[in-house]
Amino acid sequence: MTSSSPASSSKRTPVRLRELQATDRAPLEAILRATGSFPENEITVALELIDESLAKTAVKAAPLPDDYRFLVALPARAVVDSAVAEAAVQRTAPVIGYVCWGQNPMSDGVFDLYWIAVDPTLQGGGTGQALMAAAEADVAARGGRMILVETGGKASYAPTRRFYQRIGYVEIARLPDFFRPGDDKVIYARRLDGVALQHRSDESSGSMATEAPRVL
Ligand SMILES: CC(C)(COP(=O)(O)OP(=O)(O)OC[C@H]1O[C@@H](n2cnc3c(N)ncnc32)[C@H](O)[C@@H]1OP(=O)(O)O)[C@@H](O)C(=O)NCCC(=O)NCCS
Repeated sequence: MTSSSPASSSKRTPVRLRELQATDRAPLEAILRATGSFPENEITVALELIDESLAKTAVKAAPLPDDYRFLVALPARAVVDSAVAEAAVQRTAPVIGYVCWGQNPMSDGVFDLYWIAVDPTLQGGGTGQALMAAAEADVAARGGRMILVETGGKASYAPTRRFYQRIGYVEIARLPDFFRPGDDKVIYARRLDGVALQHRSDESSGSMATEAPRVL
């Protein structure tokens, strides 16, 4: 995890979002590596998902309605004055981040956030929030009732956990030593159906929610 600084309104990076295209693969691989957040096996899986999605697009296979979905972010710096210019910018501007999500096939209305990454030089500028907002809007449009996010529990992932908390996600579970000894898997959720979530733990206060023991 890089030491990205928190976003502030004065540091906002205006972004535009578009669908994934083939020329995004190399810059997205570079971003995944540059974050320093993902081990090689995770980068391999992230690239496999990108390749699979691009391959489907290439053969114009109708995407499954709840298959892996992608959006990439571009800086919205260029002033464009026509639809043609806008199309050119969208094709050629360098991507600065992406998000990948999809419906959990074992569930009815639960979506998983699979990947999100933003160019480390632009983190803290609102790009991650814009990507998440667009993914959430898509999930809501598909009738999704909950989004789950899995991340690391190590201290180096604290900025990522703060990001999710800041945008309304609640820690609902923690799997101790999941990734490796001392490295928990932390699961965050956001309900889109208005049902309140109970914090399993609250890192900001250090308190644990009380839950009745389950009787088997
Ligand atoms: C996590 C990540 C996607 C967030 O994207 P981002 O563009 O940096 O986030 P934003 O600028 O949209 O931040 C949204 C909110 O989170 C907060 N936030 C972001 N980075 C933060 C940090 N390092 N510390 C504290 N808060 C942070 C911001 O304060 C902001 O809230 P605000 O709008 O009220 O100020 C990005 O930092 C990243 O790519 N990290 C490395 C890869 C990673 O960890 N991916 C997730 C794996 S599970």
